[in-house]
Amino acid sequence: MRIAMIGSGYVGLVSGACFAQFGHDVVCIDKEEGKIARLRKGEMPIYEPGLDKLVADNVKAERLSFSTKLGDAVANADAVFIAVGTPTRRGDGHADLSYVYAAAAEVADAIRGYTVVVTKSTVPVGTGREVARIIRETQPSAEFDVCSNPEFLREGAAIEDFMKPDRVVIGVESQRARDVMAGIYRPLNLIQTPMVFTNIETAEVTKYAGNAFLATKITFINEIADLCEKVGADVHDVARGIGLDGRIGRKFLHPGPGFGGSCFPKDTLALAYTAREVNAPQTIVEQVIEVNNARKKRMARKVIDFCGGSVKDLTVGVLGLTFKPNTDDMRDAPSLDIVPALQSAGAKLQAFDPEGMSEAGKLLKGINFTKTAYEAAFEADVLVVITEWHEFRGLDPRRIKQVMRQPRIVDLRNIFNPEEMRGLGFTYEGVGRPQPRN
Ligand code: UDX
Repeated sequence: MRIAMIGSGYVGLVSGACFAQFGHDVVCIDKEEGKIARLRKGEMPIYEPGLDKLVADNVKAERLSFSTKLGDAVANADAVFIAVGTPTRRGDGHADLSYVYAAAAEVADAIRGYTVVVTKSTVPVGTGREVARIIRETQPSAEFDVCSNPEFLREGAAIEDFMKPDRVVIGVESQRARDVMAGIYRPLNLIQTPMVFTNIETAEVTKYAGNAFLATKITFINEIADLCEKVGADVHDVARGIGLDGRIGRKFLHPGPGFGGSCFPKDTLALAYTAREVNAPQTIVEQVIEVNNARKKRMARKVIDFCGGSVKDLTVGVLGLTFKPNTDDMRDAPSLDIVPALQSAGAKLQAFDPEGMSEAGKLLKGINFTKTAYEAAFEADVLVVITEWHEFRGLDPRRIKQVMRQPRIVDLRNIFNPEEMRGLGFTYEGVGRPQPRN
């Protein structure tokens, strides 16, 4: 199959490279000339494990190329995927669809022969129909079908998620388009991936419902963690105890400082907005948004309380700034709430993140970024773990203790063993875990 991928951001680039790996001919398109020039040189615009090699292999095999012009690629394509950004619109929290609609109009002009136009970006219900209307209006003679194929990949595990998905959801309403989509995903038949064919609206709702459910699951365990702290229970055992019930499942029950990232905050807001518009309010999701925002703000207070009510003139070391490990993505990261709040409470901040410091430097001011995790702990009065990078689990607690001014840790991701840390002489607090009785 010949595929044009409009938008070479996270989803576009990963999907494009993976489709090429499936054996298809893919052109990834982006308006940003600098980005395309770098991609042609083999430089990745994002940090994603394995992506550089996947891109290089497929460029070498001449299945993957990059361009700023969509004309030829779209004219030759069997399927055109729209994977441009859908940021949160300023003011009302709805998804900003201007990039999607602009792409649809450009695609419409360029279509030659039967083409399936697929929305891959997460788009509110109704967008697929609107894309179809725009194409029909722009080029009334265009021979096309619109299809919704939401992407469920996680940053940091994007390639694995794309190549071995739990399922593929395809909203499609003609046999011809269904055949094209089935052809594109044929390699996944070999690993027996379930294909869920639906109408277009159903596929659009499925994506939002999935993300909202996961965001709810995280928020639920976060509130249970608060309860555990008060009553001397351990949230990890609770999570295991409930998660072993197959109806609940063990995944996404890790308590922390609140969810962030490019999807959950944006998608929950957009779902709540759409639902209000059609008078079917999603009150649970609205609560999740509120509880999660409040939680991110409250985490600085947790650190301050842990330090006896003030962090004025204290040095706070921070481990991890990105919204989760294995990414350099800082979008809606809890650190963006926690760090400034500690700074306004008078603390001096020094931080280390394996991949996120360059992005963080654009968003967080007045921090001393260090070269190693130990340097972030150096002469600190308290060390705060915000992101659970794997390498932090391997740090030597004895060495951390040696370099700190006061051996105190607030572990917002529960990466350390409380008994071990306390045994070594740390004052230690995690999330949702019993405090030592005295
Ligand atoms: C998410 C969805 O998982 C993915 O299916 C969708 O396509 C895009 O959004 P992503 O944003 O990359 O992917 O990250 P994810 O691993 O889901 O984590 C999201 C946030 O939830 C992070 O801030 C993470 O720290 C937090 N989280 C996740 C928890 O706090 N606890 C958990 O148990 C799981």
